[in-house]
Amino acid sequence: MAILSQIRAPRARCIGGDALPVADTKHRANAPLTRPQFAHESEEEFARLLDFYGIRWEYEPRSFPLEWDETGRVIESFNPDFYLPDVDLYIELTTLKQSLVTRKNRKIRRLRELYPDVRLEIFYGRDYRNLLFKYGLAKGWDSPAPYVKTLAHDIERILFTEAQIQDRVRELGEQISRDYTGKSPLLVSVLKGALYFIADLSRAISIPVAMDFMAITSYGGEKASSGAVRIIKDLDEKITGRNVILVEDIIDTGLTASYLVKNLSARDPASVRICTLLDKSVRRIVQDLPIDYRGFEVPDIFVVGYGLDYRQLYRNLPFIGVLKEEALQRT
Ligand code: IMP
Ligand code: MG
Repeated sequence: MAILSQIRAPRARCIGGDALPVADTKHRANAPLTRPQFAHESEEEFARLLDFYGIRWEYEPRSFPLEWDETGRVIESFNPDFYLPDVDLYIELTTLKQSLVTRKNRKIRRLRELYPDVRLEIFYGRDYRNLLFKYGLAKGWDSPAPYVKTLAHDIERILFTEAQIQDRVRELGEQISRDYTGKSPLLVSVLKGALYFIADLSRAISIPVAMDFMAITSYGGEKASSGAVRIIKDLDEKITGRNVILVEDIIDTGLTASYLVKNLSARDPASVRICTLLDKSVRRIVQDLPIDYRGFEVPDIFVVGYGLDYRQLYRNLPFIGVLKEEALQRT
């Protein structure tokens, strides 16, 4: 392992954070640059699992010297397979082959002596899923809600975890509260995609807010909108003189939002601003769409969860994820 990793440039790949946190290996041109060369298939499998659970990782980011010769040259070192920055933990994957285990165990004992502050866990065997739960790393995923388990089978990986979404929504709520101090904005949302977002956002806002809803149909396919919109349920109240915030789940081509902003603006509100959880700006057709509040930028992939659906399903997932191809193909 040590020799292998010396000839392999240690490259890190992380997910999480605000902007484009996940390199989409299938869709993004730079994927080979961000995906490290794994020494073992098991490591790749483990990385995929970490991605799936939205756990950020780095692959062999550090080498710990263990033995030196008289001249001070490092003659033995140890490179843990993974580092998980959020929990400050190194992970070494190990097969149960006894000859290797003994040597590795000796190295690990030495590492613990020399670097007592370094947290290292050894994962024996290949049941990584259970190991992640055992070490409490995948918590948050193991939701008590039964539907999560059922629907999660169709998810290839998580793009934004429940915790990431909640953090970002809280920030947006604080920002809106600051910007509208002394006012009482009206959150206008379109059913049904923004359902969860507006529910959480409104509770993250510390000034008085009212809410109203519209329902529209867009004459598009199941995965893309055509921009032709028909209102099937209008707002309950007049918005004349109100400060309106249009709360959207995702802005893709921008055709829907652009239509709605025009429609709302024609009703003489004091102002209309857009707040969207997701912005798929690479797909934008409408160029002059000012977005005042944006949760996350997303790459050109179809996503579901936290209100977003595919054929009306997956809205109730607590995270936002990418569907497996087989789920998209299913009729
Ligand atoms: P636009 O008019 O192209 O901006 O489309 C916006 C609407 O398309 C959203 O409100 C969603 O209903 C739908 N949409 C676009 N991208 C996605 C996606 O990745 N997942 C789920 N729905 C999406
Ligand atoms: Mg939809």
